[in-house]
Amino acid sequence: MKIIIAQDYQELSERASQIVIGLLANKPDATLGLATGSTPVGLYQKLIEKYKKQVISFEKVKTFNLDEYCELAQEHPQSYYSYMHHQLFNHIDITEENINIPRGIGDELTLLCREYNEKLKAATIDLQVLGIGNNGHIGFNEPGTSFDQETFIVELTPETREANKRFFNSIDEVPRYAITMGIKNIIAANKILLLASGVAKAPAIKELIYGKINEKTPASILKKHPDVTVVLDREAASMIK
Ligand code: GLP
Repeated sequence: MKIIIAQDYQELSERASQIVIGLLANKPDATLGLATGSTPVGLYQKLIEKYKKQVISFEKVKTFNLDEYCELAQEHPQSYYSYMHHQLFNHIDITEENINIPRGIGDELTLLCREYNEKLKAATIDLQVLGIGNNGHIGFNEPGTSFDQETFIVELTPETREANKRFFNSIDEVPRYAITMGIKNIIAANKILLLASGVAKAPAIKELIYGKINEKTPASILKKHPDVTVVLDREAASMIK
């Protein structure tokens, strides 16, 4: 695992964007795995800047998002569909048919999981961007999820709902379920870029780096992957030497 410690969030976002830009320079039709949450917002802003300066184009890029809340319509402001369009897709030249975001609403959730999983299996993700939950989750794979898990419906832990409450008016509005790529889908990516910012992530990062590979810390599986880069700011790195 390659670890980069940036001075601050700005530098973290810049370093992460350089990795994505490097990939797109070599492979303009790359497939990106994308994450939501606060952490990659700065990365997406840098990518938009570089697109506007014509350094990169997303015309041929395909994307697969990690996860989506159940119970929220796509147009809900806190759906990950809305997030991705506001934070990135509306500002670049990606084509809508190249965007893949799991759908978490409807009667046929099992079918939606199977369909998303089939799409993932038919694709090769060149670079998967990840954040990390305070409890070490990746995507929405909560502690205890099997490392062999593929796309599924997960019941969110109280801790994750609490952490994501800040985006909603109250805890009651935070969805209880989500659809997420499983850990098996995530680690199938050729390259993984995990970002973490802020002191709340420091214990999860410490566990990722010094802990054993174990299903209680979903992110720990990344130690088995041959090409992982972790970009941290100083606060997220504050519990590692
Ligand atoms: C959510 C997402 C994850 C994300 C995590 C951390 O639970 N499903 O993909 O990594 O939150 O989010 P943040 O970057 O806001 O701390």
